Amino acid sequence: SAHEMPTRLRVILASPRGFCAGVERAIEIVERALEIYGPPVYVRHEIVHNKHVVETLRAQGAVFVEELDEIPDGAMTVFSAHGVPQAVVKEAGRRALPVIDATCPLVSKVHREGQNLARKGREVIMIGHAGHPEVEGTRGQVPGGVHLVSKVEDVESLQVRDPDMVGYVTQTTLSVDDTKDVIDALKTRFPNIQGPDVKDICYATQNRQTAVRELARQVDLLLVVGARNSSNSNRLAEIGITMGVPSHLIDDATMVQDEWFRGVSVVGVTAGASAPERLVRDLIARIDQVAPSSVEHLQGIKENMQFKLPRVLADAMAERG
Ligand code: F3S
Repeated sequence: SAHEMPTRLRVILASPRGFCAGVERAIEIVERALEIYGPPVYVRHEIVHNKHVVETLRAQGAVFVEELDEIPDGAMTVFSAHGVPQAVVKEAGRRALPVIDATCPLVSKVHREGQNLARKGREVIMIGHAGHPEVEGTRGQVPGGVHLVSKVEDVESLQVRDPDMVGYVTQTTLSVDDTKDVIDALKTRFPNIQGPDVKDICYATQNRQTAVRELARQVDLLLVVGARNSSNSNRLAEIGITMGVPSHLIDDATMVQDEWFRGVSVVGVTAGASAPERLVRDLIARIDQVAPSSVEHLQGIKENMQFKLPRVLADAMAERG
């Protein structure tokens, strides 16, 4: 019956899931910096939003801080994948800190778009979630700052100088569907607005959302491996919920509750862009303890994105041979 614990389970894995190219690069930057310069390497903010990643790097000598004033003079400093406001770049420059910037190139691209709109005299509206470090970084990279909106209702209350001279950018990890609605509202209110449509939402976010939508159609329960503070992971769980599938965002396998599996025969599993694949393997093992499980892989969009390491690290590695 619907209330009984299953005797067998089918597990279906979304594809793609887990690490994106920006996360791979950010983690590699910290690892290489530790190798080349030796510990400690200071990292401003969690390098990516995952405590397992952070703990692994901490064990290798990375020191995570929230602000630059926690970093001693002269110490090797890494900016996280989420990007930083211009004021932080300036302060690091004033202190002559040796900085390696792990900002995802797709976040830097949004910074440049915002700067270009501002240069053309447009007031910039950012679609994003207040308090997220990427949003704080982007708003602090656009001269004159940004108006932040996160939902359709926010558009109505916007106060701008000249409705014909506005533009918008978006956070990279938003829901594609919700963002379309906000953009439509912006275009209705400001017919001459300029912006990227949903193209600021990065390839990894879009592909993981497409994959989870496909997955959610086939399962009775959806488990998303990802951190509470991971924007893209939250969006994946939301898609499951919107599609009527009980969905849980979990840090790791230890958060799984047997109760969730009552009446379930097919479990979908995916992972946010900052969640290591090891956590997915642990989760599959945990599900197998609930009931013996078979594992299937969905066919999805193939990804082959790769970002270059910052010049200073690439050169240092080339020198070492
Ligand atoms: Fe970059 Fe998108 Fe990953 S912005 S860090 S590729 S989630």
